[in-house]
Amino acid sequence: MTTMTTTATTTTGQTVLDARGVTMRFGGLTAVRGVDLTVRSGEIVGLIGPNGAGKTTFFNCLTGLYTPTEGEVRYKDTVLPPTSYKVTAAGIARTFQNIRLFANMTVLENVLVGRHTRTKEGFWSAVLRGPGFHKAEAASRARATELLEFVGLAAKADHLARNLPYGEQRKLEIARALASEPGLLLLDEPTAGMNPQETRATEELVFAIRDQGIAVLVIEHDMRFIFNLCDRVAVLVQGEKLIEGDSATVQGDERVVAAYLGEPLENDPGAAEAAEVEAAEAHADTPHDTAAGKENDR
Ligand SMILES: Nc1ncnc2c1ncn2[C@@H]1O[C@H](COP(=O)(O)OP(=O)(O)O)[C@@H](O)[C@H]1O
Ligand SMILES: [Mg+2]
Repeated sequence: MTTMTTTATTTTGQTVLDARGVTMRFGGLTAVRGVDLTVRSGEIVGLIGPNGAGKTTFFNCLTGLYTPTEGEVRYKDTVLPPTSYKVTAAGIARTFQNIRLFANMTVLENVLVGRHTRTKEGFWSAVLRGPGFHKAEAASRARATELLEFVGLAAKADHLARNLPYGEQRKLEIARALASEPGLLLLDEPTAGMNPQETRATEELVFAIRDQGIAVLVIEHDMRFIFNLCDRVAVLVQGEKLIEGDSATVQGDERVVAAYLGEPLENDPGAAEAAEVEAAEAHADTPHDTAAGKENDR
């Protein structure tokens, strides 16, 4: 993995995301408290923490779903606009902890929807369906097909999204997010419900995305996945950033271990999942599904 990191074709350095002092309160509850986080181009950054730590809420603050109670989020030196649509147009794309696809659209159509913010052809062009419209539509389809190939779903382009197995729905969400041609991709638990093979394939996919020049910020419970993948990992506990550093530093931190060991097992699918991955690798391949019990994605 280290070699892949060093052979990245993009230059690391430019700050893509700069979140400063982000606080999100819901009534009396402070879900996120004073969180600073930067992501630079060429980087894969992990965000971990027990359930309820505020990870998804933080993502929602980065993507315009929530306006932070305090703090500021910049994308490439520009303060983010306050709506999801404009954030996507600015260059940040995301996937959701609870998959959000158009179930009755085909796989290809779902990706085409993701291209929406990048399609220059306007309303009248679509109504009149002139040559410009047809040309733009053909280009969009070509790009969408390319993205399906990239995530390994080209053969299922005409299937309805709802007929895809769970792991492939997650891949489709990634393809749809990439269709907006982002500079930063946010992934909220991309391997939840995946078996060990799918998890490993997702790891490779995230490396490939990074190698395309897209910075990645990823939330995940699967520690093996996170520590393999990420250049840097930040740990959220009860809304606050406990520590941030490279994998070795974070893995070895006593407070991180305590934060995880303090978590009851049934509330920590990540621990169960990591154990299952290990068991599966030691023995045969055991398909499993941790989708049940996933919650509170907004
Ligand atoms: N829209 C909301 N209204 C009220 N409370 C919320 C809302 N969104 C999240 N929370 C609360 O904020 C805390 C953090 O939740 P969340 O960000 O989903 O955690 P994580 O993704 O780390 O599991 C939880 O206590 C959750 O119940
Ligand atoms: Mg969450």
